[in-house]
Formats: sequence, C-alpha cells, structure tokens
Amino acid sequence: MPEFIHKPVMAAEVLAALQPVPGGRYADGTLGGAGHAASLLAASSPTGWLSGCDRDGAAIEAARARLNREFAGRFEIRRGNFADLADWVPAGSCAGVLLDLGVSSPQLDAAGRGFSFQQDGPLDMRMDDRQSLTAAELVNGASAEELAEIFWKLGGERESRRFARAMVHDRAQRQFASTRQLAELIERLSPRQGRKAHPATQVFQALRIAVNDEIGSLKLGLAAAVKLLGPGGRLAVITFHSLEDRVVKEFGRELARDYTFAGPVDVPELRQPCAPVLKWVSRKAILPGEQELRENPRSRSAQLRVLEKI
Ligand SMILES: C[S@@+](CC[C@H](N)C(=O)[O-])C[C@H]1O[C@@H](n2cnc3c(N)ncnc32)[C@H](O)[C@@H]1O
Repeated sequence: MPEFIHKPVMAAEVLAALQPVPGGRYADGTLGGAGHAASLLAASSPTGWLSGCDRDGAAIEAARARLNREFAGRFEIRRGNFADLADWVPAGSCAGVLLDLGVSSPQLDAAGRGFSFQQDGPLDMRMDDRQSLTAAELVNGASAEELAEIFWKLGGERESRRFARAMVHDRAQRQFASTRQLAELIERLSPRQGRKAHPATQVFQALRIAVNDEIGSLKLGLAAAVKLLGPGGRLAVITFHSLEDRVVKEFGRELARDYTFAGPVDVPELRQPCAPVLKWVSRKAILPGEQELRENPRSRSAQLRVLEKI
C-alpha cells in the first residue's frame, strides 16, 4: 500500500475542543489518514471508542492500517459519506464528532485522482470512485450556463461566463480529458501576470465541490452529527473556504437560537417556544497558530468552529 501522508490540521485545537475522556465515544466523519482519529483515541485511552468514515477507499485502508497498529478493538470504520453517519452510529451516543472538510494531501498530490491543476492527470476529482459523475463529465456535458453557475457560486470565479463559453467552444473540437488541458485553457484566457494564485484555482475548486456535492453532504452531515451527540457533546468542524464556513455558521446560528414554533396565529397554545439545541463554544472561528501556518501551508485557510449540544 502506498504511504498516505496527511498532516492533521489544528490537532491540538481539536483535542482542546472535544476534550476526549476514557470511555467516551467519538465519531470522525472525515478519517483521511486518521491523524485526528488517532489523537482522539490516544487521548481517550484506554477505553475510548471511535466510529469513523471516509468516502475515499484509499483513506479507509490507510486509516484502518494505522489505527489497527495502536488501537485495535477500539474503533469501527466504514467507507461512506458522513451524511449517513446516523444510519449506523447510535443516536445520542457520542461525546464528540469531528468533520475536517475538504480533500487530503494524498488526494491532492496523486496526479491520477485529477484534483490538481499543478499535475497532469485524468479530469476526475471523485472522492469516492464508486460514484459515476466525474469532472470530465461535467465539463464536457453541462451547458455554458450550468458551468458558469458552478464556477461563480462554488468558486467565486469572476470570469465564470467567459471561461464556461470557452470550454463549450473548445470541447466541440476536442473533449476535455485531462487536468492540464483544462488548466491550459484557463491560463490562455487569463494569463497569470505575476498573480500569486494560479488562474485555475477557483474553477478547480468549484468543479471539485460540484462533483462531490460537498455542500449538500455538509448540510446533511451537520444534521447527522447533531443526532449522534449526547447532551454536552461537542461538534468540531474544520472548513477550508468561505462557502463551507457559511454553511456551518448558518447551521449553528439556526440551532443555537430560541424561537417560537410557528403555529397558526389564532391558536396561541400551538405557538410554543422552542429551546435551542446547540450553543457555540466560542463565538469566533479558531484559526491555526503561527507555528502551524509556517510548518503546514495547507492549514492557511482552515477555520475551526465548535458547537455543544444542550
Ligand atoms: C482534510 S481530509 C481529513 C484528514 C484527517 N482529519 C486526518 O487527520 O488525516 C478530508 C477527508 O474527508 C473526506 N471527505 C470529504 N467529504 C466527505 C464526506 N462527505 N463524507 C465522507 N468523507 C468525506 C475526504 O475523502 C478526505 O479523506
């Protein structure tokens, strides 16, 4: 099995947020290389338990191998979407749930996975290779309007319409098959001219989010995570871009507020006040420290938000 190297982001901050204890049960919806999972199991030794999942088969293999070495008999791992965690982890059983969103370093670094514009590979971008939709299918099959909407809404790409029109034009001559082919088209339309970020950054981000329905999964995953938590249990979510962070903030805001059940106005006894389900552990997002930013540049866009079940 090839080595799976992913440096967990904000590992100390996640432990401080979830405060694992022996006997506690924890869920990790984004196992990756199991860096966070291993630290949760170590901190809850000798009797803490971990339920974990990942959509990516290679991550599951790497996580199982790593956890078996040190924590055999203390975890259950399944391949799948974290949106489905509540189907197999008992409701109210967890003291902590972690979602560390986005892609892992091995996913980004393996050219064959097609996530990166820096290396040539098939235009794939699937986290779960059992799903049929790939980035190539989207780029070659969606209309110019659909592509522009994806680039704008999921990537914030200002040139979304121009890029989408050019893709539809070019694919009539030759279908898009590789990451390089797509990156070169964008470089041609929008030369780098000393800009720090590669001009294809946003298009690649948007396609990845669309192919993996990341925002849809996140909304379902947050709801599932709250079901798993017992009273006082904590949910820690690490996001890597503003779109994800907005979903987490809105979800927290909604479940952390007092509200009145909106029954009919003329039947006041049906208009009952409802208590909040969650509370924020800290109002502000927690950011990586300077040392981590220096040592792991991939942590630079990370934000950690923590909620507690009431
Ligand atoms: C940033 S990495 C997690 C790294 C991990 N915390 C560690 O310490 O190694 C994100 C992982 O989440 C997985 N992932 C992303 N969205 C997912 C989803 N909806 N369901 C399950 N896994 C998902 C990816 O396949 C990837 O392996």
